[in-house]
Amino acid sequence: MSEIVLITGASGLLGRALVAKYSQAGFRVLAQYHRHPFPDTPSVQWLDADFSCMRGIQDFLRLNRKRLTACRYVINNFGPIIERPTVEVSACDLCLDFALQVAPALDISRFLIPHGQLQAVLNIGFEFSGENRIYQRILGYALAKNFLLSLTRSLAVAFPAVRFNYFSPPSLEGACVLPKAAKPVAPHLVAERIFQIMLQRRSGIHYHYVPARA
Ligand SMILES: NC(=O)c1ccc[n+]([C@@H]2O[C@H](COP(=O)([O-])OP(=O)(O)OC[C@H]3O[C@@H](n4cnc5c(N)ncnc54)[C@H](OP(=O)(O)O)[C@@H]3O)[C@@H](O)[C@H]2O)c1
Repeated sequence: MSEIVLITGASGLLGRALVAKYSQAGFRVLAQYHRHPFPDTPSVQWLDADFSCMRGIQDFLRLNRKRLTACRYVINNFGPIIERPTVEVSACDLCLDFALQVAPALDISRFLIPHGQLQAVLNIGFEFSGENRIYQRILGYALAKNFLLSLTRSLAVAFPAVRFNYFSPPSLEGACVLPKAAKPVAPHLVAERIFQIMLQRRSGIHYHYVPARA
């Protein structure tokens, strides 16, 4: 029987490439979307969810309980960038960024771990994860992604039976927000790299992926 992977943010730029990679590799894919569904196929089932509030995450877990508990792999890819000048950032904004980047990733893992099927989780960061920098436009996003990095490391120790990975993708070709010096990479190459990381038999932190030249 095919193994099952849950991919959040599956209807987005990187999500679609991940769905294609996993379904072509013979997995059954549970693909979470919010406003842009795609037709189900024999290998891909699209699941609606709104992760903008805690209630939405809980509803997603409750309504899909049976399907989700069979998952072996989870890719927490949902993680919207909210741009805001640092001089305008409030504590409330920071809380929202933390809720968006961290709450679905944590609650999905915590929900699945007790069911005993979960083997590996990969949380998506961003290209400057792990760096202590000054941010002028994406402070909340950057802080929350770094928090997700610490969380991933801690979960890897707390739950050694599950492999926890953290991957910082480069800027993606086709992305709406691109740093000035970005060298964007095609989403399908990033999806391939994530697929390879998930095959590894250990937890790990993976920064600064640059694809080999063709
Ligand atoms: N793009 C980049 O250059 C880049 C660079 C570094 C890291 N990343 C990270 O890579 C990951 C994927 O980024 P991306 O650019 O591929 O994302 P994206 O194209 O913006 O896709 C966003 C995804 O999130 C879903 N979504 C939006 N609002 C939602 C809500 N309220 N509840 C649940 N789902 C919701 C969207 O669903 P619908 O479309 O169905 O509404 C879509 O599937 C993110 O974690 C991001 O931080 C991206």
